[in-house]
Order: sequence, then C-alpha cells, then structure tokens
Amino acid sequence: MECLMLVILTLQLLPQSQLLSVTNSEGKMLKTQPVLLSEMKAATPLRRKKDKRKGSIAKPGYQIQVNGVLYDVSDTDPRTPLAPFLRFMLFLPGTKAMCFESACGCCAVLLEYDDPINPGKKIVKSVNSCLYPVGALLSLKNHQVITIEAVSSFKESLHTVQKRLADYHGSQCGFCSPGFVIQMLALLKNNQTPSVQEVEDVFDGNVCRCTGYRPILDAMKSFAKDSDPSLQGSLIDIEDLKICPMTNQPCDQKFTTGPVEGGNTLLYAKFGMKWYQPRTLEQLYDILEENPKELAKLINGDTSKGVYKGVYFDVNIDVKGIPELYEVTMGPDGLKVFSNVTLTSLIDYLKLYSDQSPSYNALAEHLLKIANKSVQNIAGWAGNLMLKWYHREFISDVFVIFEAVGAKLTIGNRNGRETYTPLEFLSVKMEGKVILCVEIPKLKENEAMNCYKVMPQTQNSQPYVSAGFWVQFKTSSGSKLVKSFSMVYTGISDNFMHASKTEEFLKGRDITCNETLQGALATLDKEVIPDDVSPLFAKPEYRKSLALGLFYKFFLSLLDESQVSPRNQSAICPLKRPVSTGKQIFSSREAIYPLTQPIPKLNSYKQACGEIEYINDIYPLSKELFSVFCLSKVGNATIDNIDITRAENWNGAVKVFLAKDIPGANTFMPPPFQVEEILSSGRVLYAGQPIALCVGVSQHYALEMVDVIDVTYKDQEPPIVTLDDAIEKNSFYPLPGKGLIVGDPADAISKSPHHIEGEVRAGEQYHFHMETQVCRCTPTEDGLDVQAASQWLDLAQQAVAGACGLPVKDVNITAKRLGGAYGAKVTRANLVACGSALAAHLLKRPVQCMMDLATNMKAVGKRHGYIFKYKVGFNDDGTLNGVIITYYCDNGSSPNDDEVSTYFGFSDNAYKCKNWHLIPIALKTNRAAHTWCRSPGSKPNIFVIETILEHVAKFLSLDPINVKQKNLYAQGDITPLGFDLPYCSIRDLYSTQLKKVDVTGRLQAIKKFNADNRWKKKGLAVVPLKYCLDWTEGFYLCTVSIFASDGSVIVTHGGVEIGQGINTKVAQVCAYVLGIPVDLISIKPTTAISSPNAGTTGRSITCELNCLGVKNCCEILKERLSPVKATLPPGTPWKDLVAACFKAKMNLTAQYWVSPDPNSKGVPQYYSYGVTVAEAELDVLTGENQINLVDMLFDCGESINPAIDIGQIEGAFVMGMGYWLMEKVIYDPDTGEVLNAGTWDYKPPFSKSIPINFNIELLKNAPNPMGVLRSKASGEPPQCMSCVTLFAVKRAIEAARQDIGKDFYFPLSGPATVNEIQANCLVDYKDFSI
Ligand SMILES: Cc1cc2nc3c(=O)[nH]c(=O)nc-3n(C[C@H](O)[C@H](O)[C@H](O)COP(=O)(O)OP(=O)(O)OC[C@H]3O[C@@H](n4cnc5c(N)ncnc54)[C@H](O)[C@@H]3O)c2cc1C
Ligand code: FES
Ligand code: FES
Repeated sequence: MECLMLVILTLQLLPQSQLLSVTNSEGKMLKTQPVLLSEMKAATPLRRKKDKRKGSIAKPGYQIQVNGVLYDVSDTDPRTPLAPFLRFMLFLPGTKAMCFESACGCCAVLLEYDDPINPGKKIVKSVNSCLYPVGALLSLKNHQVITIEAVSSFKESLHTVQKRLADYHGSQCGFCSPGFVIQMLALLKNNQTPSVQEVEDVFDGNVCRCTGYRPILDAMKSFAKDSDPSLQGSLIDIEDLKICPMTNQPCDQKFTTGPVEGGNTLLYAKFGMKWYQPRTLEQLYDILEENPKELAKLINGDTSKGVYKGVYFDVNIDVKGIPELYEVTMGPDGLKVFSNVTLTSLIDYLKLYSDQSPSYNALAEHLLKIANKSVQNIAGWAGNLMLKWYHREFISDVFVIFEAVGAKLTIGNRNGRETYTPLEFLSVKMEGKVILCVEIPKLKENEAMNCYKVMPQTQNSQPYVSAGFWVQFKTSSGSKLVKSFSMVYTGISDNFMHASKTEEFLKGRDITCNETLQGALATLDKEVIPDDVSPLFAKPEYRKSLALGLFYKFFLSLLDESQVSPRNQSAICPLKRPVSTGKQIFSSREAIYPLTQPIPKLNSYKQACGEIEYINDIYPLSKELFSVFCLSKVGNATIDNIDITRAENWNGAVKVFLAKDIPGANTFMPPPFQVEEILSSGRVLYAGQPIALCVGVSQHYALEMVDVIDVTYKDQEPPIVTLDDAIEKNSFYPLPGKGLIVGDPADAISKSPHHIEGEVRAGEQYHFHMETQVCRCTPTEDGLDVQAASQWLDLAQQAVAGACGLPVKDVNITAKRLGGAYGAKVTRANLVACGSALAAHLLKRPVQCMMDLATNMKAVGKRHGYIFKYKVGFNDDGTLNGVIITYYCDNGSSPNDDEVSTYFGFSDNAYKCKNWHLIPIALKTNRAAHTWCRSPGSKPNIFVIETILEHVAKFLSLDPINVKQKNLYAQGDITPLGFDLPYCSIRDLYSTQLKKVDVTGRLQAIKKFNADNRWKKKGLAVVPLKYCLDWTEGFYLCTVSIFASDGSVIVTHGGVEIGQGINTKVAQVCAYVLGIPVDLISIKPTTAISSPNAGTTGRSITCELNCLGVKNCCEILKERLSPVKATLPPGTPWKDLVAACFKAKMNLTAQYWVSPDPNSKGVPQYYSYGVTVAEAELDVLTGENQINLVDMLFDCGESINPAIDIGQIEGAFVMGMGYWLMEKVIYDPDTGEVLNAGTWDYKPPFSKSIPINFNIELLKNAPNPMGVLRSKASGEPPQCMSCVTLFAVKRAIEAARQDIGKDFYFPLSGPATVNEIQANCLVDYKDFSI
C-alpha cells in the first residue's frame, strides 16, 4: 500500500533554502551558526551525507513526520520554530507566518500524536507553528504535523472545509485562509458535530483584516449541527476527516516516531546549547543536577517566547515525554493536575468536574480568556506561573485565579517535594526545581468565588486588570458574615497582589449591609495604588476603578437576588454575546450573468488550499540573500557614527549598506515628491527611520546583524512626538492646497441663535496587512526583475530606477497579488522595493527585503492622526448656519502623502450648510511619515461633521437622529466645493432606513433598558453617508488578447489584486461583453510591461476603471470580430469564430488606455449614499462594550459582483470599527518610537469584535448612470459610516452619565478604547450600593 511506504528525507537533500545558505558574497564557506536562534554559539552547517537518499533510515529519535513524510532533524537546531522550517526547509509555504507571536493564526498547523497517558487515544490539535520548536516534536509519540498542503489540493480535490470557505466568500487576499481552514479542521477532528457557538469560539486567535469575519464564520458555521438553515451547509462527512496526507485518501496509517526506548536523554549538545528529552521524573532531576549552574528551560508549550522574546537558555529540557507530569486526579479535596497538562486540557477537566464545585466553571471560563485556542492547546499552566516568577510585572491570569481559589502548588527536586501557595511560590528558589502539580480545592458549602478579566478586546488579549475573589462565610446556614476573604489582583503593580487591608476589613462583617460595602470600597480605594510605569498600560485611575468595580460585581453576586436593588443587578453579569448573525440583502440580474452574479473570487479556492504564492512564499533562488533595515532608536538627531564592523563580520553576514553606498538618488519617493531617504544620510527624523541595510544569507542572520550595529548620535533635540506639541511649536508644513471658504461663516455663526465650539481627535491606525512589506529583486541580463508587493507599480519602478541609477526601462516590475495592503503599499512599499533593489543591484544577487512586524510598525507611517477644532452656528432646530473647522493633521516626518487639504469633498458628509470655512493644517512631527489608509481623509472628515451634529443636538437637548435628518441634502443641492447633487437620494434613504429598522421602537426599548439598569447601558446612533467618487488620476492600460488556437482569453490591466476582487470583476466584465464563460479567461499579473505608467490601486476607483478599460477592449474586439461573425452560421461556437477571425488575419488583441479628463480633477463622477444604524451595549463599571446590531443600507449601484461588494463593505466597516473602538498606536513620549509594535499591545478586531447582528442591504433598482456598467464603488465608502459604532457607544455613556446628573456634552475621540470609554462614564465607587 502506497501509504505504508516509509519515506525518509534528510534535509540536506533539499535545495538550498534561505535557512541553509552558508556562503558569503565571495562564495567563501562560512563557519555558520545554527539557524534561526540568536543564542547560537557553536556552528554546524547541515551535514551533507552522501549516502542519505530517499528511502534510507533516519536516526531513530530524530525523525519528525510532516504530511506523511519522515524527516531527519538530527542536524537541525531543535529550537528552530516550525513555521520557517516548514516554509523554507520543507518548502511547504501554504503555512503562512506574520506575527511570530502566536497571535494572528496564519501559521496554524494540525498536530496529531499519541495521548501520553491514554493508550490508544490520539490527540489532534491546532498549533501555531511560528513559536513551536521543531525539537519539541521529538518527544511526541507517533506524531504527525499536517499542513494545509496535505489537507487537499486545488488540482485534485478540494476539502469540504476549503471549498466552503471559498464558496461563502470567506477569502479575500487569502493570506489568513489556510490558518482558518486548519483551525476548523482541528475543531471538526475533535468534534464532528459542533454547535455554532463552538465554531464561533474557536477562531479567537485568527486575524483576518479583509473580510470582517462574517463570511468566514458563516462558512464554518455551515458545518454546525444547529446552524441556521439559511447557511445551507451540511455536517462534515467523517471520511473527509480521515485524510492520509500522502495519498489524499481516507487512511489511518501512521509511522512510528517519538522518543526511543532507553535512548539517551541528551538529544543535542551543539548549537551552543543542550537539549534534553527526559522520559521520567528521575531523569529530569538528574538533568537538573547535572546542570546546576544554569537556569534550565523546561519546554512544554514554549509559548512564553511570544511574550518575552529573545530569552534563550543554555539548557533546554523537553518535559513532554514524562508521563507522570500528565496525571490528573479528582479527589475529595479537589482537582490535582500535573504540570504538563495544557491550558486546554485543564479547561476540559474543570468543566468535566464542574458539578463537584461551582468554582470550576468560573476558573475554566477565565482560562478560556488566556491567549487563544492554538496557544491554550500547547501552553501549560505551569509555564504561565513561571513567567510570573521570572517577571513580576507579568499579568498572569493563572496566578490570580489559583491564588484566589486557594490552590496549592507542589514543587519538587531530587530531595523532595514542598507545597506552597502561588504567592509563596514567587519567593521559592526555583533553580533545579520543577513545578509538579497544582491542587485546586473544591468550594465548600459556605464558600464562594469568582474571577474577572477586563481586557482591551473580547478575545486574545492580556488583561488591563484581572481579579479573583474568594470568600468564606462563618456558617453554612445562609449567614453572610465573612470569615475570610481573598482578593487577588494583577495589573495594578508588580507587588500588589492581595488587597490585604480590605480582606482584613471584611473579616467578620455582614455583607448584606451597605456599610460593609462602603467600608470595603473605601479601604480598597486607599490600598490600590496602580503604578504608572509605561505608556503601554492603561491609566492608573482606570485600573484603580476596575479594581473597585470588579470587587463591587463580586460583592453583589454574593447577595440573594432579593437583597440587591433591581437596577444594581446589572452590575453582576458580564455582557452576553450571543452567536453572531447577519443578513446580506442584494439583487442581481440573471439575464446579464456573469455580470451582477455573486460568484466567489476566482482565486479563492486556491487561496483556501494555501496554493497561492505571495512573494515570501517563492522558493529562494540559488544565492538569494535577505535584507533587513536597521532602524534608528531616536528621532530628531544626527548620526555621529555607525559602526558596522561587528555586523559585517557576523556569521551569515554578506554586507551592510549605508546611505553613502547608494549609487543613485537616496530617496524612495521619486520626483516630484519630496525626498524621503531610503537610508538616513545624517539627520534622523524619527525613531524607526532606516539607517542601514543589513544583508545576510538568511532573514534570521540579517536580523541578527541589525542587533550588533552600534550607532551614536549628536545634535539630539527633543523630538516632536504629539500633535499638541506640534501645534504648540508651530511645527507645520506648507500646504499644497488651500483652505475653503464658502459664504461668510464667521458672520453666519455670530448671527446664529446658538453657537458652540469644540475639539475632537482621531488617532492613527496601523494597516495590519497580514503580508508585511516585502519585495524581491533579481538582477538579470535584462535589468532588474522586481517582484513588488506594491499598490503603485509605476511609482515603485521609478523609485527603484532612481535609487539604483538605472533607466526605468531596465526595471521589470511585477505584482501578482498582495496579502493585504489597505493603502500601506501605495507609496510606502517603495522603501522595501528600494532596499531589495539596491542590495540586488550592488551585490549582483537576488535579494529579498521583508519587514518583520515590529520593523513594519516602527518604520512605516500609519493612517494620519488628527485634532479637529470647530465653531458652529445653528438654529433652534439644529439646522446649520455656519461651520468653521480647523483640521490639524499629522503628516509625520514628510508631507508626501498629505491628505488634509485634498478631502474637503467629504467635510460636509450629507449635510447642507451655506457657510463653511475649512482650514487645513499639516503638522510636522518626528514620527514616520503617515500615509494612505483605506478611506483616507474621508473617514476623519466625516467623523468630525458627525461629531459636530451630535454636539449641536446635545446643546439643544434634541435627538441627534432628528437633527441630522433636518440638515440632510436634497436633490439638486450644491456642496461646499460647488458641485451639484443631481441624483441625491440621502433623504429618502435616511427615512426609509429609520422606518425599516424601527428606530423609534428601538429607542423606546433602549430607554426602558437604561432606566431599568444602572450598570449596563445601551445606545443607538445613525450615520448617513454621501461619498464622492472622482475618477481623476486613474490611469490604467488594459489589454485583452484572444488566443486563436482555443479561444481562451488573457487580460492584463493596471490595477493590482490586493484582495478586493479586481481580477474577478474584470473577468466577469470581459466574459459578459465577449459573451463567453468566465473560465475561458485568465487575468495575468500586473506588470509595468503590460501596463506601464499605471496609476495607483486605491481610492476605490481602480476596480471600476479597469473594468471600464477591459469593457472597452472587449467592445473593440467584438466590433472587430463582427464582420467575420456575420459570415458564419448563427450559433457558431466562440472557438470557431476566433479561429475564423485569425484566419482572416485579424488582430485578436485590443488595448484601452483609461485616462479620465485631467481637467476634471476633483470633479465627482458620482456620489454613493448610505445610512447605518448601530446599537451598542456597555458595561459601565469596566468599559467593555459590544455592538449588538448594525443595519446598513448602501447604494452600490448595480453591483458587478454583489458578493464581492458585500465582502468589501463588511471588511471596510469592521476595519473602521477597529479604528474607532480598538486600535491605538502608542508612542514613546521621549523618543517617538512606536511602543506597541506587535500583537501583544496592538489589537485589530477579532472575530468576536464584529457586530453581533450585522445586516447589510444593497439598495435595489439603483443603476448608476454615471458608473461603469451601472455600478458603484464599495471598497472605501462604507467605512466612513463605521464611526456610528463610536456614537452608539457614546449614547450608552451618556445614559450612564444621566444617572449621576452629569449628562452634559463631552467629546469622544477615536479610538475610544475600553479604558477611555469607562473613564467617560465618570464612575465613582461612592455611588456603588446594594
Ligand atoms: C499570544 C499569547 C497571548 C497570551 N495571553 C495571555 C493572557 O492573556 N494571560 C496570561 O496570563 N498569559 C498569557 N499568555 C502567556 C501564556 O499563558 C504562557 O505563554 C503559557 O502559559 C506558558 O506555558 P508554556 O507551556 O508554553 O511554557 P513554556 O514557554 O514552555 O515555559 C515557560 C517557562 O516556564 C518554565 N516551566 C515550564 N514548565 C515548568 C515546570 N513544570 N516547572 C518549572 N518550570 C517550568 C520554563 O522553564 C520556562 O522558563 C499569552 C501567551 C501568548 C503567546
Ligand atoms: S505568525 Fe504564528 S500566530 Fe502569527
Ligand atoms: S482574506 Fe483574511 S487577511 Fe486577507
């Protein structure tokens, strides 16, 4: 049988990969360090044993099994993370990698192995391969790693999960898709009939920036036993889950892998470290004794690397092969769990025994909030505690709940075992010792406990504050006299763990008395003194308020329902988030299919299989090198000296380039843009600016080289870090555009019955494209081949040519597809393009330049941040008379991507006013130059006018919904820019939507809810939209060629496929006009050869303009073909028609240059309209909130592909929600460096951040007379309505403030993160009562 064949490959048989390259630029063999890890002292190139061939036997105990193939890893550094090993050593690039922090999920693989304590049972789980070390597989008996490549293949047969993901439109750029598929398979392999809730819960660690999650969740929920019939799925077939990766057939075959009976425990003694694999506790003690000096690392999940990076140990002991450490027993006193038990298993056991103690469920629920499923699947509770032991500031959830519940830890070494409380354990000398087990006591009848975690996001987040409370009452006969109270916190300060004074205060008190509560709160208020040591932490006042609020929640939960006032009962329970749902309502016209047909994205099936290649997936060429930017750590200084000696002599180093080495122009922004240096030539403008380019034989070596570059600075001046600083210091750029004055706003305001002034802010946003900035250049006989992840090839081509001193014709630039972009790769992609081009050009070797997440977040600017100041005059009914807005927009260190003066077309949104003064001010700060980000300019501009209308309404004590309605434009009105609105439908849309979703009824229900509940509040807001689309600066060359031999068609266009579905829409248009099936058409990668001088892919117009170009090409061809067609019998097949035309010597290629009239610059082609209603719910005590409902009505014209457009709308809206409610960029106040440059502190929306009920309707019967084939754009406009979520939350905050008589106007700036929201609720513990 084929799958019985034992195939062993040794890694040295593989072609040279980025990890294996061991020569320097002179071709000299280097003494290599072991790959990947920075603690590499010894050096061993991979052995090249001549006798190792396919079919030979690998060293026993050193075999790992991946997709049914065994590999010998005896010469691989066991610490090498699995993801790069799979991608570059086994060439399995379907597994992606981005964050290397175990927090984005794109690197997930399936891991199967024998259950160490239940013979015959197999464990199957998802694991994030970016942290999991290769060597850790060796202790797992009969293990197998299954990557996306083995799930199935596009060419052969798609796996049902992959097919459904694509069918349900769950893959846009596709970078995240393999991770979602793997995660779902892991769930199904363990539970063939999951519930929708279980499906929704499982994706807590998978980030998708494109889709807005809904279509992914729908696809996966279609496998659930209780799924909504509208999802039309079916349960998974058991056969689909028994896939043999070798044959793609159902198959149970497994190879024998894992530890060798009686084998040596020391598996590796090279690479500058020792790696042990004990099989018994005794052996573990032996190893610890043998290595008394070092603090050894015990490897269980090895996930702590995701939290504390770059911490390596000389002695690594993989403890997973010790069966004793997996034991779990439920005894009369409680649950005893040994230290190899993972968080997932611990959760399962706690749930299993939840009938034994009510606390077990609470503990399980809390543990579920640690990290995400893939981390929980391998991470141990003991490792978590050890993090707390090493790093007192670590916000350990395990510590809090174990300490609160009175757990006992047993610590052992050869000399015996001791038992400690978690608190005592922190002071134990752990050298040479092991955490053996924890005993989690059952709650006694007279005891109660609960635990709480408040975090910036509902999933995958570390806490602001976690707390665990336990109480013992004096008797069990219903008395509420406290005998003992335990209050444990994390997130307050390094040393504040127990609120001891409050615990003491509570002893002997009756908790049914308000005085007890007040006394305890007052004591707690005094003893909780949060530290203020890092801008990354939420403000001390908030953390203190949480400490009090969480205690209050627990206190009330101890009382009988009848003892707590009905309104205060709302404090007790957390927000309930049901499974999310949503409707997508659209129409399509079958008569004109494939136009308007909601077909899945053409490549989505391949994407779901991981078979789509992104730049970093391409197997490195022979002698390919890797380059990494070294960034400045300070801003506003001059480089005094850069010492690159150590870096250039570093193993694996090839060269370090400095500004002086650049042969052409040192700018990645070609003229007429202002110079932005590729490498600083002296003055450093911001912390994060590239100052050197390190080139090495692998990405890893290049990154190491960065660390050993020594830089000194002079003329250091305090950087301008904040917008306020810039305003205060008049640090402004001259503006390319002027302000706008219409009428006499000052006069109109002064003569108005009412006028107000205000200020509001909107922060920056990191694009969070899953594929970080990357480019790959190869010198060829024909110039430089550039594979760029760029949204603007023409500009990148010019930049590369300029930097290398080459004519543009010698730069052959291509973009096949991008793994997300959202504007970040319009101009900023030039930086990596120039980096890789320079190195390739100068070294005459292929060079890749890829930014790791931290470099990307530090070196590249974000969405522009703003301060808006306004003055408004208005009438009694809220109608506007005059508006003056000053837009202080932070451009950072360069004004190249300035947006402040070019988006005044959005300043009015949908509101009419006769008098406007719009004043743009571009701030110059010492931050990376900010850049385009999905809906640039429009999103902030619409937010400020919405804020103004809300402010006006509050001032007049009117409902903002009505005030907005009064101000809406009518057909034929003129905008401040002087354009009329010929097809303006906003008034109709607004009233229709209000009625349709019963806003009046809902407002009444909310009013009642808010009156009934003191500590939970709801709010509803409405935001309308007028979005103007102009087509100027959209230049694209489109070419359609028909092959005479078979009638198939190739299309090239000037846009770049960034996940927005441009290729699919273009193919649909082409098929429609030529009258042929879509599958006859192939859309080829975008190149400067096929589409030179193309404009950027952005502003939502690229799709429609390239559709226009292709439509025109097809019409030219159709007309050209028609004389021959007329001579053929009706119904002649397309293939024959084409052949006949070719025979008639006809040119079967047509080109069209889309170039809208340059004189119409800024003149709107058409307007999009929409209305969104959102409802939010808020926990006043914590600031946690959720969007319960979003109903959007959007005018998309006659959509070319409604499924793609809905995908764009949802993705844009959720990205917008992230901006307004979650994502905050935090800068070092002293240096301006981005501090939260990673997933630990920067949180994009996850799958449970989306609206719980998310309904989208595309306006029916709304052909756009001014659009391409009657369509309208969808990529950006809907995002501008996402501020409705912030306003809905604001309404809820207002309701909370009403209760304390403080319902006056306050601005709510974005992002309104959980802590900011709670701060605005003005919670005072003195208002807490029973
Ligand atoms: C993305 C992400 C999010 C996270 N979010 C949270 C969060 O919200 N809250 C939270 O509390 N934590 C969080 N964590 C931390 C996580 O819980 C820990 O990384 C994990 O529990 C560590 O377990 P491990 O088995 O992987 O430990 P390892 O990484 O294998 O080991 C960690 C340390 O523990 C030591 N060790 C392990 N086992 C033993 C033992 N039996 N005896 C003595 N020493 C031992 C090791 O020597 C090592 O020093 C997060 C981690 C990640 C990656
Ligand atoms: S790369 Fe592994 S989780 Fe992000
Ligand atoms: S499709 Fe999910 S990140 Fe692009």
